[in-house]
Amino acid sequence: MKISNYVLMLSKVLLLALSATATTVAFAASQEGAIARGEYVYDIGGCASCHTKDTPLAGGVKLVTEFGTFFSPNISPDAQYGIGGWSNDQFIKAMRQGISPEGEHYYPAFPYTSYANMQISDLLDLKAYLDAQDPVSEPNLAHDVGFPFNQRALLGVWKLINTGHQWTPDLSQSESWNRGSYLANGPSHCTQCHTPRNFTGGLQKDTGMVGNKNGPEGESVPPLFDVNKLAFGGWSEEDIAFALEIGMTPAGDFLGGSMSDILENTTGKMTAQDIQALAEYLYTLNNS
Ligand code: HEC
Ligand code: HEC
Repeated sequence: MKISNYVLMLSKVLLLALSATATTVAFAASQEGAIARGEYVYDIGGCASCHTKDTPLAGGVKLVTEFGTFFSPNISPDAQYGIGGWSNDQFIKAMRQGISPEGEHYYPAFPYTSYANMQISDLLDLKAYLDAQDPVSEPNLAHDVGFPFNQRALLGVWKLINTGHQWTPDLSQSESWNRGSYLANGPSHCTQCHTPRNFTGGLQKDTGMVGNKNGPEGESVPPLFDVNKLAFGGWSEEDIAFALEIGMTPAGDFLGGSMSDILENTTGKMTAQDIQALAEYLYTLNNS
C-alpha cells in the first residue's frame, strides 16, 4: 500500500470511529435527558403512591374497592417479575389503553382512564426512567376479586361504556391553564377521586370534579368544581396553590385521608410552575 493511500484509509477509519463515538455520546446524552424528564413524569403521575410499598416500584400496595381488593404489580425493570423487556409500544398500550402485552384488559384500579390522556413523549420519558431503575425480583400478589369481576374479558364491555373521551387543550385558555387541565385530567389524575363514579365504577366525566361521597376507602372527597361556584368557599388562587404545595387550607386545617398520598408523591413534588398551573385551572373553573 502506498503511504498516501494508507494515510487516507487511516483518516477514514479515524473519522468513522469519531462519528460513532459522537453518535454514542449524543445518544447517551439524550437518554439521560429522557431519564431525568421521566423521573418528573413519574412524580406528576403519582406512580409511587400505588407501586411503592417498601421497595421502590416493587408494588404490593393493597387497594380496596367495591369490586374487590387489588394489589399493585411490580413495575421495576425485572425481566421475570417486573416489566423488564417491554417494548415502548407495549408500555404505551398498557398506560393509554389498559391492555397488557398478553392482550388482557387491566382493571381500572390502575387509573389508565386518566393516563390515556398522557402525551406519548411523556410516556416515552417515563419508560426511560423506569428502565433505568434497579430491578426488583418480587412476584406479584394475586388480586382478591370475586365473580363476575374476576373475568377480565368483561372489562372490554366496561371500556365501551367508560373510555374513549380524549383530553384536548382549550385554545381559548392560557398555556398554563391548559397545563393545569392536562395535569388534572391526565397524569396527576385528580379526577379519579374528585369526580363521582357511575354504577359500573367509571368516572361521570360530564359532571366534572364535583366531589365523590364514596371515594377511596369509602371516604368522602370534596368538590374541586361546583356549578354554583361554591367549591373551595372563596379560596384565592394562591390559597389553592398553597394547599397543593403544603397541604394546609386557608382555615389552617391539614388535608388528610387519601389526599395525603397525593400531597406526598404528586403535588408535593411538582415545580412551582406546575402547582401554579393547577391552581389557575381550578380557580378559573370556579370563578368565571
Ligand atoms: C391508584 C393506584 C395506581 C396508580 C396511581 C398507578 N398504578 Fe399502575 N397499576 C395499578 C394496579 C392496581 C395495577 C394492576 C391492574 C390489573 O392487574 O389489572 C397496575 C398496573 C400497572 C402496569 C401493568 C403491569 C403489569 O405487570 O402488567 C403498569 C405498567 C403500571 N401500572 C404503571 C404505572 C405507572 C407508570 C404509574 C404512574 C404514572 C402507575 N402505574 C400509577 C395501580 C396504580
Ligand atoms: C386518591 C384520591 C385523591 C386524588 C387522586 C386527589 N385527591 Fe384531592 N382530596 C382527596 C380527599 C380525600 C380530600 C379531602 C381531604 C381532607 O378533607 O382532609 C381531598 C382534598 C383536596 C383539596 C381540598 C379541597 C377543600 O375544599 O378542602 C384540594 C384543593 C385537592 N384535594 C386537590 C387535588 C388535586 C389538584 C388533585 C390532583 C393533583 C387531587 N386533589 C387528587 C382525595 C384525592
